[in-house]
Amino acid sequence: MKELKITMIGMGYVGLVTGAAFAKHGFHTTCTTRTPEKVKALKSGKVPFYEPGLEELVKEGVDAGLLHGSTDNIACVKDSDITFNCVGTPSLPDGSIDLGHVEKTSEDIGTALKDMDRYHVVVAKSTIVPSTTDSLIKPILEEKSGKKAGEDFGLCMNPEFLREGAALQDSLHPDRIVVGGIDQRSIDTVMRVYEGFDCPKMETDLRTAEMIKYGANCLLATKITFANEFANICEIFGVDVYEMMRGVGLDFRINPSFLNAGVGFGGSCFPKDVNAITATAKKNGYNPRILNAVLDVNETQPLRMATMAKNKFGDVSGKRVALLGLSFKPDTDDVRYTRALPIAESFVEAGAQVVAYDPKATENFKRLTDKDITYVSSAKEALKGADMCIIQSDWAEFKDLKAEDFKGLMKSPNIIDGRRTYDPDRMIKDGVTYIGIGWKNGL
Ligand code: UGA
Repeated sequence: MKELKITMIGMGYVGLVTGAAFAKHGFHTTCTTRTPEKVKALKSGKVPFYEPGLEELVKEGVDAGLLHGSTDNIACVKDSDITFNCVGTPSLPDGSIDLGHVEKTSEDIGTALKDMDRYHVVVAKSTIVPSTTDSLIKPILEEKSGKKAGEDFGLCMNPEFLREGAALQDSLHPDRIVVGGIDQRSIDTVMRVYEGFDCPKMETDLRTAEMIKYGANCLLATKITFANEFANICEIFGVDVYEMMRGVGLDFRINPSFLNAGVGFGGSCFPKDVNAITATAKKNGYNPRILNAVLDVNETQPLRMATMAKNKFGDVSGKRVALLGLSFKPDTDDVRYTRALPIAESFVEAGAQVVAYDPKATENFKRLTDKDITYVSSAKEALKGADMCIIQSDWAEFKDLKAEDFKGLMKSPNIIDGRRTYDPDRMIKDGVTYIGIGWKNGL
């Protein structure tokens, strides 16, 4: 066991996955939550959301006596050397960031620091708009503890870059680690936790660390939107956007990832973060035009599925439409800002009978809409008797479906794919009508 003891505040994606990764690296790590059931579940190696491999990693940490759960923030901070604050920073109705959880937990940390003799570093890990660590978190910690940051305790900002569905890989083998600190001692202490991680490590100041996270997420969201914009232009000229972007991405300065066009980006991060930095910039007198456009294109992109269906197959009213994939991407049950919602609703509004299936996210999706949608328990059941099939996220289970399945089960084997799940030449050769946004054969 390593000598540093770690507290992770928050048992969401970032807190639990990173906590389990720290335990894997030999650190005594306690994840806190306000929900006692989650602590109880953790003890038996259970996790509150679906993430491939996480349950096994958590169990390994628990069985080794290194990973623990608790509902007591203050006691855990007091008993540790570093606290990573990983609570959620959701959007407010106007798109700006809700820092309520960060404020509340910073108060707890400050209260704990008050009675502590040993040196402790507080690390902001949640995605927070620039200046939050030094202008909001620091004053709360100092007020509650009666101590001074940079003298009596350390303060860092360490953004998280993990992707849902690939969170284990990303947290155990990150591309890079960024630590912004109020002073060198704080940074050096946090870097000790990352000693066993083999990747480039960057030291910087607090605000730059905060901004790096927004820069990364906004650039990735912009890449996707750029591909979507070109997909819409490609359609006019009968050019296949996937082939085009393959050629574009071969330029090492551009790189091929996050250029997959389709129905737009969803999830708890890109939409929230692009909105938050846009709102912050506007509040401070700058209107970020590129980011506004990214949000704008992303709103309309999923609606192109219904337009495409109408243009290709005629009025969808009364048609049975199989919708495959309800989570915002494969390998997660997360439906936050999923593009499946505007797609499903636009088809229902056009009078279609939507029959939806997802391997993990159906129950979560049901809570998002009261529209008349039928939910079934397999992809094949959704396809039965359908006039067309919409693929919203490319789960491996859908990839396994063959042209024969679509032809055998559907009334008409028509697929509109939001993700390019299959090889179009193969599908079309095998007798399926297979189209997608920005494809050569789209309209
Ligand atoms: C994203 C970032 O990729 C992580 O680096 C970051 O840590 C995380 O946000 C966060 O801020 O916590 P995540 O939202 O889990 O991770 O998922 P992504 O794999 O980035 O996908 C986001 C959305 O973009 C999905 O809806 C996906 O389908 C879509 N996407 C992705 C595309 O439409 N095209 C692409 O080429 C890639």
